[in-house]
Amino acid sequence: MKKTVLITGATGGIGLATAQDLAGRGYTVLLHGRSRAKAEAARDQILAAQPTADLKIVMADLGKLDEVRRLAEEVLILAPTLDVLVNNAGVWNSRQELTAEGVELTFAVNHLAYFLLGHLLLPALRKSADGRIICVASDSHKQIPGIFFDNLNLDGNYHGLRAYAQSKLANVLFCYEFERRRGAADPAIFAVQPGLVQTDIGLKGNTWLHRLAWKVRRQMSGNKTPAEGAATSIFLATEPGLAAQSGLYWDNCRPKKSYSSSYDKDEARILWELTEELTGVEHYF
Ligand SMILES: NC(=O)c1ccc[n+]([C@@H]2O[C@H](COP(=O)([O-])OP(=O)(O)OC[C@H]3O[C@@H](n4cnc5c(N)ncnc54)[C@H](OP(=O)(O)O)[C@@H]3O)[C@@H](O)[C@H]2O)c1
Repeated sequence: MKKTVLITGATGGIGLATAQDLAGRGYTVLLHGRSRAKAEAARDQILAAQPTADLKIVMADLGKLDEVRRLAEEVLILAPTLDVLVNNAGVWNSRQELTAEGVELTFAVNHLAYFLLGHLLLPALRKSADGRIICVASDSHKQIPGIFFDNLNLDGNYHGLRAYAQSKLANVLFCYEFERRRGAADPAIFAVQPGLVQTDIGLKGNTWLHRLAWKVRRQMSGNKTPAEGAATSIFLATEPGLAAQSGLYWDNCRPKKSYSSSYDKDEARILWELTEELTGVEHYF
């Protein structure tokens, strides 16, 4: 039976490579973007190689909670049964920016949107015989000792690396806590480390110094192409029989250990409750 996947941030980098591959395997791909021009260019690029690909564009700025909610409503109509949600969209910001709700933007896009979209799409994911949520995280989560609960927005202490690491630690804590709380009918969940991938993530809206640093870093030998960086997400979306390995951290298509603080159950519970508050979710499951 034909499967349906929603991939956030599918207009470039790892998300586009994931969309290209899954479209080629016959999935209906809901291709998410925040810029219509970029989303149409991504769709056209996939169609040029695969003219029969089944693609639908969905739009939302994931730094805006009301747009995350509207996106979910649209997806529930387009895909009453959703087999896979790939929470992939992400940002790396040199400068501190706050959302309309007053939340630091990296944390909002990279964590709050993953959490809220997962919750709002549960009705469609539960209808799949093998529903899955894939959260694209990063080994960058190892760069901080824990979530900065006393200063989540990093006021007076902001650095892009710190904000990014915090958001990616939140991805891993979310995945583990989701696994502890989920019921038998709920989708499986996986966190992914894609590796160091040659994408444009460090070039968007950042200072010239950070853009230069990213250009040099991504060109270093051994770094992955977007297609290589997408391999674990694609494996987790397509490989049968993975339900028993739900709630793990994956790298190179294999589970691996994440940083020690990501296993702190109190930290995960506090983050979960705080995220419910920030997203207005009363009962996640
Ligand atoms: N590249 C790496 O080495 C690396 C390593 C570890 C983890 N990751 C993770 O991999 C994921 C994909 O990143 P990438 O490297 O492929 O970067 P990318 O090429 O910049 O792709 C990021 C995607 O997210 C979208 N996005 C960003 N902010 C958004 C917002 N506010 N609302 C909606 N969409 C938004 C981008 O849209 P626009 O095109 O409009 O900006 C783009 O489609 C991220 O979660 C990242 O943290 C990347």
